[in-house]
Amino acid sequence: MKVVGGSASLALARALSSELRADLVDVTFERHPGGFPDGERYVRLLGPVAGDHVVLVQSTWPDPKIVELLLLMDAARDAGARRLTAVVPYFGYGRQDKRFLDGEAVGAKTLAKHIALDADELLTMAVHNPDILHMFPIRAREVSGMPALGRYLKRADVDVLLAPDHGALRHVREAASVSGKPYDHLEKERIDSYTVRITPKKLDVRGKSVAIVDDVISTGGTIATTAKELRTQGARRVLALCIHGLFVGKAAENLKACDEVVATDTVPSAWTKVSVAPEFAAAIRALG
Ligand code: R5P
Repeated sequence: MKVVGGSASLALARALSSELRADLVDVTFERHPGGFPDGERYVRLLGPVAGDHVVLVQSTWPDPKIVELLLLMDAARDAGARRLTAVVPYFGYGRQDKRFLDGEAVGAKTLAKHIALDADELLTMAVHNPDILHMFPIRAREVSGMPALGRYLKRADVDVLLAPDHGALRHVREAASVSGKPYDHLEKERIDSYTVRITPKKLDVRGKSVAIVDDVISTGGTIATTAKELRTQGARRVLALCIHGLFVGKAAENLKACDEVVATDTVPSAWTKVSVAPEFAAAIRALG
């Protein structure tokens, strides 16, 4: 088995290769300084993969990383890879899981179709809607990253976990069971892409350290609104934990509402403190 990392997921690929005790194949991404002069992506595998089971790790965000994923899969196949497992830690385009308006592309299906051209199977994590896994014409599995956050929470100064909305409940429940800490949830209404409204609910958080656990932090609007509500109700400390930290727009400003922010390495950032490599390694071993 060989592990190949795209430039969106190099640290995770390295950690995964060490978990799996498999060689990491070096890749060159930039033929000219900064890529091709016109901005096109470039990849070159620097080690042999002929006859190997290749585990290719690359999140599909932001957009140029999608092209890199397709180039890497094709390069691995052309170089004779026997089997190709695509590990897409963060599956960008997962939110376009249906045609909201006539004429739209169903982005999740578009990506699924193209990944399946070269991959034999796909592993991903904390997708917006697990139903999109059925859009892949190959075996596709969602791996949970919550045990990784749960392990972090077990050691942290945290009294209670909180899901900011009903959708995050399945994640928080799992983090709670691993960390052995209780959990609660709020109800959130999304007004637009940048604004959310939290339905007031009396929580037992006075004097407590509360960890908000979500699948994604994007603009940080959900976290900021939830943290404000927790402070109003007397929380002593507020942490925000997520699997995918995208941190776009005013996220850095919004996150000031928290005492600590923790994200995993599905999307590398200054807030990445937890690796989900053990979770993906276990899932790869279970593929058989
Ligand atoms: C929503 O369904 C997700 O679970 C997250 O709560 C949401 O994507 C976070 O977005 P933002 O950080 O922009 O509020």
